[in-house]
Amino acid sequence: MEPIDEAIDERALFARAPSGTADFVVIANRLPIHHSPTQGTSEWRPSPGGLVTALTSVLQSRNGLWIGWPGVSDDIEAPCTFEGIALSAVAISADEYEEFYLGFSNATLWPLYHDAIRAPTFHRAWWATYQRINHRFATAAARSVAPNGTVWIHDYQLQLVPAMLRAMRPDVRIGFFLHIPFPPSELFTQLPWRRELITGLLGADLIGFQVPHAASNFSRIARRLVGATGTDSVLHYDGRVIRAGAFPITVDTTLITATVADRRVRERAAEIRRDLGNPEVVLLGVDRLDYTKGIQQRLTAVSEMFASGELVAGTHVVVQVAVPSRESDAHYDLERHNLEQVVSAMNGDHGFVGSPVIHYLHQNMPFEELVALYLAADIMLVTPFRDGMNLVAKEYVACREDLTGKLILSEFAGAAAELRGAFMVNPHDLDGIKESISLALKAAPSEIRARMLRMRRKVFRRDVSDWAQSFLSALNSGSAASESHEFDQSSSINSATDVATREG
Ligand code: F6P
Repeated sequence: MEPIDEAIDERALFARAPSGTADFVVIANRLPIHHSPTQGTSEWRPSPGGLVTALTSVLQSRNGLWIGWPGVSDDIEAPCTFEGIALSAVAISADEYEEFYLGFSNATLWPLYHDAIRAPTFHRAWWATYQRINHRFATAAARSVAPNGTVWIHDYQLQLVPAMLRAMRPDVRIGFFLHIPFPPSELFTQLPWRRELITGLLGADLIGFQVPHAASNFSRIARRLVGATGTDSVLHYDGRVIRAGAFPITVDTTLITATVADRRVRERAAEIRRDLGNPEVVLLGVDRLDYTKGIQQRLTAVSEMFASGELVAGTHVVVQVAVPSRESDAHYDLERHNLEQVVSAMNGDHGFVGSPVIHYLHQNMPFEELVALYLAADIMLVTPFRDGMNLVAKEYVACREDLTGKLILSEFAGAAAELRGAFMVNPHDLDGIKESISLALKAAPSEIRARMLRMRRKVFRRDVSDWAQSFLSALNSGSAASESHEFDQSSSINSATDVATREG
């Protein structure tokens, strides 16, 4: 690696960090809390999500530390603890936010790893900043972790950290988990710094992916580009053994089950249906507003069904939740603009007074409200062009304990490898989406029950804490064990390796 010029005073930055004492360290781009300014005051709140739930108990029981960016670029100081876990904030300046977060992470790697749905942008200045920030995270971990401790690094923003950390602390056991797809070589090799990223990841002892073909993509590229030897699951490089495998992330089934059992949530679900005008069928989409999610494509398909009379205003109603995301990126801004035109045209063309055909909510939503929506929805539409896993699909299944509810699922979501009871679609195929919605509308209750039962068996086999435990036991035992056995072998699309359209 090139020498790295530190723009931020690291001595000041790490002054508050616990030094050399943490047995277990998690490094993720974001801390498990976020800053929420409300009416002139400000406060820190826990960030929602299974990762935080899964890791909190492990961190609490193992003298753990979470290293991450607090999500604010100015001088707001993040707390040092959260639910008994030590936190160490890594500062990122406003310029670094532009080049590291919006730039290399989300305008280079994000599109490249998602089938290049938008053209990835390659800038040498962004790359320099990506190296510098990765070095900063690695330094924070090297200073904090106890002798022979364990460090678990998360996601695409931090792919250089494993090798940087190993160079500083060879005594430490290092795991890396990629939450998004790992692309095939046809796409990955576009990256001018492809060798550096591969050697960065090879600094880990165990590299986890969402699905087996992502692990295969990585191992093939490592053999081809940097001369690693071995199989898709066990690689040899630089005198070390590196294991790669699939550890599909899942949802917090305990929390979901408790939320579904909450009387207020069930009443809210009934109220939502009343507020929608008691339609026969509620179709629901819940996505981060991202161009990878295929929201416009799916709504265009639904709109054509209203136009043809297969769906009827008042009888069928769509609810689309689009959670604001990465709003300062021009691609996301354009995506929102175009999506809102589709929504507006749907209501303009097909709705009538008192009966819009689509209710569009561009906002964050409390988890209880999301569960109420899942309970209210007859058909769940999850149609990303490419997605590492897609936990919305698993959350919907986990909520439908009465075995009703139909899931329309993109075959390009990682979740498709497990949820074979879904109505599978190619999200690029408008007629195919329409056909699947038609099939779901007409399916007999016995078929719906069988499909949902099959999916619930998979989802309830293990929860997100089991996911964390299985990764950590594989990391600490040094075994090549992955959770590949979780995959349905009949999954023809997702068992294919190195095809040009995949995600992990
Ligand atoms: O899936 C990748 C991911 O980074 C998630 O971890 C996160 O929830 C989402 O994308 C949005 O990320 P961010 O707001 O940090 O860019």
